[in-house]
Amino acid sequence: MRVNVASLAFLCFLSLVHGDDPSRFFNWNITFGNIYPLGVPQQGILVNGQFPGPDIYCVTNDNLIINVHNSLTEPFLISWNGIQQRRNSWEDGVYGTNCPIPPGKNFTYILQVKDQIGSFFYFSSLDFHKAAGGFGGIRILSRPRIPIPFSDPSGDFTVLIGDWYKANHTALKARLDRGKKLPFPDGILVNGRGPNGASFTVDPGKTYRFRVSNVGLQNSLNIRFQGHKMKLVEVEGTHTLQNTYSSLDVHAGQSCSFLVTMDQLPQDYYIAVSTRFTDPVLITTAVLHYSNSGRRVNGPPPGGPTIQIDWSLNQAKSIRTNLTASGPRPNPQGSYHYGMINTSSTIRLANSAALVNGKQRYAVNSVSFIPSETPLKLADYYKISGVFRLGSISDNPTGQKEYLDTSVMPADFRAFVEIIFENKESIIQSWHLDGYSFWVVGMDGGQWSPANRKEYNLRDAVARCTTQVYPRSWTAIYVALDNVGMWNVRSEFWARRYLGQQFYLRVYSPVNSIRDEYPIPKNALLCGRAAGRHTRPL
Ligand SMILES: *[C@@H]1O[C@H](CO)[C@@H](O)[C@H](O)[C@H]1NC(C)=O
Ligand SMILES: *[C@@H]1O[C@H](CO)[C@@H](O)[C@H](O)[C@H]1NC(C)=O
Ligand SMILES: *[C@@H]1O[C@H](CO)[C@@H](O)[C@H](O)[C@H]1NC(C)=O
Ligand SMILES: *[C@@H]1O[C@H](CO)[C@@H](O)[C@H](O)[C@H]1NC(C)=O
Ligand SMILES: *[C@@H]1O[C@H](CO)[C@@H](O)[C@H](O)[C@H]1NC(C)=O
Repeated sequence: MRVNVASLAFLCFLSLVHGDDPSRFFNWNITFGNIYPLGVPQQGILVNGQFPGPDIYCVTNDNLIINVHNSLTEPFLISWNGIQQRRNSWEDGVYGTNCPIPPGKNFTYILQVKDQIGSFFYFSSLDFHKAAGGFGGIRILSRPRIPIPFSDPSGDFTVLIGDWYKANHTALKARLDRGKKLPFPDGILVNGRGPNGASFTVDPGKTYRFRVSNVGLQNSLNIRFQGHKMKLVEVEGTHTLQNTYSSLDVHAGQSCSFLVTMDQLPQDYYIAVSTRFTDPVLITTAVLHYSNSGRRVNGPPPGGPTIQIDWSLNQAKSIRTNLTASGPRPNPQGSYHYGMINTSSTIRLANSAALVNGKQRYAVNSVSFIPSETPLKLADYYKISGVFRLGSISDNPTGQKEYLDTSVMPADFRAFVEIIFENKESIIQSWHLDGYSFWVVGMDGGQWSPANRKEYNLRDAVARCTTQVYPRSWTAIYVALDNVGMWNVRSEFWARRYLGQQFYLRVYSPVNSIRDEYPIPKNALLCGRAAGRHTRPL
């Protein structure tokens, strides 16, 4: 990690920094560089020369001040998967909220990890940059006073897993732009390395925390430690019941952390990561190296589940909140009784794939999203008409033929809504909502109907920011819309997102108060039809 303490003068310019909470400064230079994770050289996106990028370590309520210098030859943005940015969608770093940082320019993100703990990641959000790198881990530690429901581990590792292509991001993007699907990926990386490239050194007898994020482009991945058990402790900021698993599914865009005790003979062991629900199955391995090891890894890596959906569904249902453990605050996680609140509305979102004008597109409720040149958040703020229409996406599947639009769904601040993700396709889907953490109250096979509400978990479901939806299945979530802003709702199946499977949820408060939403940052980049405006009235 590189933390650069900037000058006090710079601090004064950052009017949004919450004075009482500590600030951490990061100075990041984004460059292209040669990487060869699968043995062939390709163009990667590096953060301060690193692939993957450096981890962000922080503590609940810290302000993160991240000056991103774009030294690429193309526009660039970073987004923060799971960082809620309360009242502050201005810093979300997606095309709907921020102007791209032009080549050779910089932009300073100012975020606060308000009331959050847990394991997350950042990623490059524009074009198909995610296929080239520009991602890294984010860990938010609890404040010292707040008890954690397990003993301090002897070490804490970031494990970024994801499927990978040997083709560069420009080639993949060009293929998608031509209206073609992407082929099956070429391999799986662990921390940017191919087979046995990543190694984790541990001491015998000790217990370590592993924070796993699936930063890949589409595949659900299963991770397992040869000869060892994994005790799940956290998913995306929720402390879970500490169940023990022999392997865990981590779907695209998801993060979790677990403890592993080094209680086996002193030797090296495989950490195996393989694709789920695919034929063929891709597999890679990393090395768990005991510091007193007398033997290298050899033989076949441990096998895992492959196409079994029920296995995965049952595992997902076993992942629940420890109601008595604390989260970011001293009071127990169970003190917010989400199951006792009446929902004010139901939104149903159905994904689909279709050819539109002869090209492959992907849609939500029949709308395939196309970005506008003016970020939606800026168009909203400056009241620039003609950029998007509220209600340009229905809150229920319409059965219409797929079409292109810049889809924005309106929602009321403080509403408590039920969202049903309906997946009638044979692929595994993964949905993410920026700005929020939501309760995953139910998932099952078939078509959702109101009768399914009887099987919801209204007691100890986990709150997280990304949920899978199994093939020909549905997933139901509850979310308290308590964060004003323009928030991206997206498929984490990256080619699908790129070709339109996303939209923006505009959570609106008619009261124009900084208690509900921060003012536009003074350093906001302005582009499209917002170019030349002033960020603040003088
Ligand atoms: C970023 O890195 C490039 C290549 O090393 C270098 O030329 C450039 O000066 C760096 N920019 C900043 C802002 O550090
Ligand atoms: C760009 O970086 C400089 C310091 O290197 C900083 O003073 C300036 O505010 C940054 N620009 C933006 C738009 O954040
Ligand atoms: C990306 O891949 C394409 C197709 O293989 C190739 O023509 C191009 O030179 C590559 N670009 C870089 C920067 O490696
Ligand atoms: C739940 O958290 C408490 C700490 O509040 C801990 O003592 C207990 O072991 C945890 N229970 C499970 C099942 O993980
Ligand atoms: C929820 O709705 C039920 C039935 O309409 C009603 O009886 C109950 O009072 C409501 N609860 C709350 C907390 O508003």
